[in-house]
Amino acid sequence: MKPEASLPDVLLSVRDLRVAFDSGPAVRGLSFDVRRGEVLAVVGESGAGKSVTARTALGMAPRGASVAGGVTLHGRPPGTGTAAVELVGKDRAAPAALWGRRVALVPQDALSALSPVHPVGDQLAAAVRSVRGVSRGRARKLAVTALEQVGIADAARMARAHPHAFSGGMRQRAVIAMATINEPELVVADEPTTALDRERRAQILDLLIARCRAAGAALVLVTHDLEVVRGHADRVLVMYAGRQAESGPVAQVFARPHAPYTAGLLASLPPTEPLAGRRLPAIPGTPPALDALPPGCAFAPRCPLATERCRTELPEPEQTYGDRTVSCHRWRELPASPAELFLEKASAM
Ligand SMILES: Nc1ncnc2c1ncn2[C@@H]1O[C@H](COP(=O)(O)OP(=O)(O)OP(=O)(O)O)[C@@H](O)[C@H]1O
Ligand SMILES: [Mg+2]
Repeated sequence: MKPEASLPDVLLSVRDLRVAFDSGPAVRGLSFDVRRGEVLAVVGESGAGKSVTARTALGMAPRGASVAGGVTLHGRPPGTGTAAVELVGKDRAAPAALWGRRVALVPQDALSALSPVHPVGDQLAAAVRSVRGVSRGRARKLAVTALEQVGIADAARMARAHPHAFSGGMRQRAVIAMATINEPELVVADEPTTALDRERRAQILDLLIARCRAAGAALVLVTHDLEVVRGHADRVLVMYAGRQAESGPVAQVFARPHAPYTAGLLASLPPTEPLAGRRLPAIPGTPPALDALPPGCAFAPRCPLATERCRTELPEPEQTYGDRTVSCHRWRELPASPAELFLEKASAM
């Protein structure tokens, strides 16, 4: 069993985040918290705004984005030397000062996080020295230790090698070493394993989570893999068309989703019991184009429970039980086995 998130206090708060491009809005009023030490999974179909949210929340909004709302990285208790800073908002700090120090990104493409022209150990040592006043020799030792900690064999020799001498899996390990070497408070990983085969994917994810837990860092994990969410995350944020569909503790959301959209996503998971010849349900249709959003709930055209109200009135997130929120006018009407709704709808099409 995975351990409970150690401290329930909020590390990062995102409030009414809005990100738009010339082509249309990508994030449309999103609020959520990341708590210290937790693994928060962010899921949703392609184009939901997961990557834009993840990057904007770290103060790395894509070029051409217009950004509104607030993102605050909270301080540690008084006297511990870390103050609250805004990553998005009117008093926005220079976020580059935080990167690799209090917050770090593990990108999908490991090569983009490593310079091709310097040995990996030098890059790790430089990252250490940019934050801590240690000698070159000490920084090199820390770099080798960091490579050992991510399971790179013969770390002292590999520290002198360039990234092209590393295999895909080893590069991803090196990037995890880079992201965690300065013990950040928050690591954001955007589909960090999609380039790897299935077996290696599980190893790297386990490693990423172990390194974050060892560093006391919270991890925001953007992923399409619901099995990974079920097995590794503490809480989940389900996004649809730039908004929150639902959020809450993984065990509760997976056992009994509130939002029809979540139910549809989960319905496509391989069942724990055989479906006796029935085909797997999936959500019919596709997400809306962001320049042609309907006035109400963006999921309404695909939702088996949608009513006229859903088509005209945007549902705001509301708190349900305990730690859970949902943005759906009809969440109380969701049946106990919502997968059936999608099975029927899929076979009717
Ligand atoms: N740099 C950009 N310029 C213009 N539009 C962008 C840019 N980046 C993202 N978008 C648009 O913003 C929307 C959200 O994109 P985003 O990459 O966040 O989706 P995602 O949920 O990460 O999808 P995926 O699962 O495919 O990675 C999409 O419509 C996308 O086309
Ligand atoms: Mg993405």
